[in-house]
Amino acid sequence: MTVMPADLTGIDVRAEIERLRKERNAVILAHYYQKPEIQDLADFVGDSLELSRKAAETDADVIAFCGVKFMADTAKILSPEKIVVLPDMDAGCSLEDSCPPEKFKAFREAHPDHIALTYINCSTEVKALSDVIVTSSSAETILQQIPKDQPIIFGPDRHLGGYLSRKFDRPMLLWPGVCIVHEAFSETELLKLKAKHPDAPIAAHPECPPTIVDHADYVGSTSGILKYANEIEGDTLIVATEPHIIHQMERALPNKTFIGAPGADGNCNCNICPYMALNTLEKLYLALRDLQPRIEMDEDLRLAAKKSLDKMLEMASSTVGKGDLGAR
Ligand code: 13P
Ligand code: SF4
Repeated sequence: MTVMPADLTGIDVRAEIERLRKERNAVILAHYYQKPEIQDLADFVGDSLELSRKAAETDADVIAFCGVKFMADTAKILSPEKIVVLPDMDAGCSLEDSCPPEKFKAFREAHPDHIALTYINCSTEVKALSDVIVTSSSAETILQQIPKDQPIIFGPDRHLGGYLSRKFDRPMLLWPGVCIVHEAFSETELLKLKAKHPDAPIAAHPECPPTIVDHADYVGSTSGILKYANEIEGDTLIVATEPHIIHQMERALPNKTFIGAPGADGNCNCNICPYMALNTLEKLYLALRDLQPRIEMDEDLRLAAKKSLDKMLEMASSTVGKGDLGAR
């Protein structure tokens, strides 16, 4: 349910967020795809794995999660005693939507010898039906710990699964989901941009299709792309992921230039995640004030989903692999 616009005339929303953050003993966690004004006042900004770890570790009483619902659900699964609020409950994800639990269950049952390695961008029900959860920053490390002869179902992102499968020469049964944001990058427009900036490397998120990833000099999670931005020798980087991440790059590296990879007509806003964009400072203020919209979940479901998430946290800390998808 989307939060209805409230009359906030005369209210200093930023000052109120500051007051409520202290009063509620709240921590504000934000993903790199959030609007800059949200990233700037968050206590912590990170990728999906880092945010999961923060949610599991925090001693705050309230987690205000500025991201999408599967992320806030993950925080609740790992920190059930906390109040977890999401500024807009409609902040979903096309990958989660692509994978209804009943269909995923049937798919698993049709392949009883396979384990389910599942991207964190899925519902709590699908997590409960999975063996190990991965994020883009932990997928490589985790995959390398699974015996070579063990058949794998990978869902719901067929592009991340396909990328891993090609990179590690590891056949996997792929669920046919995609991220609508990363799917919208245009290869033709990317090549035109590259022609204008021949020395600028391309960094891409593995949710991009192969038509984009195949041109990338670096493929990795949001935190991996940020690290890569720091390491490039030149002064310009083309960034093929949700463009709000560029805010962090410009803050950390003001002397470098970051160009968002283009969508279909070369000039659209189709690479802004429409779900992430639902969160606003005003809705964050209301969420801290009212402690709503709040994540609630059935305890049996939570415990079932926690198993695959705990497995992820354990395996992601292993020293096998590099920890991120890394250079191609
Ligand atoms: P990471 O931040 O883990 O790379 O995930 C990106 C994403 O799709 C968030 O929805
Ligand atoms: Fe989902 Fe894509 Fe938005 Fe991430 S960017 S939340 S994967 S729709």
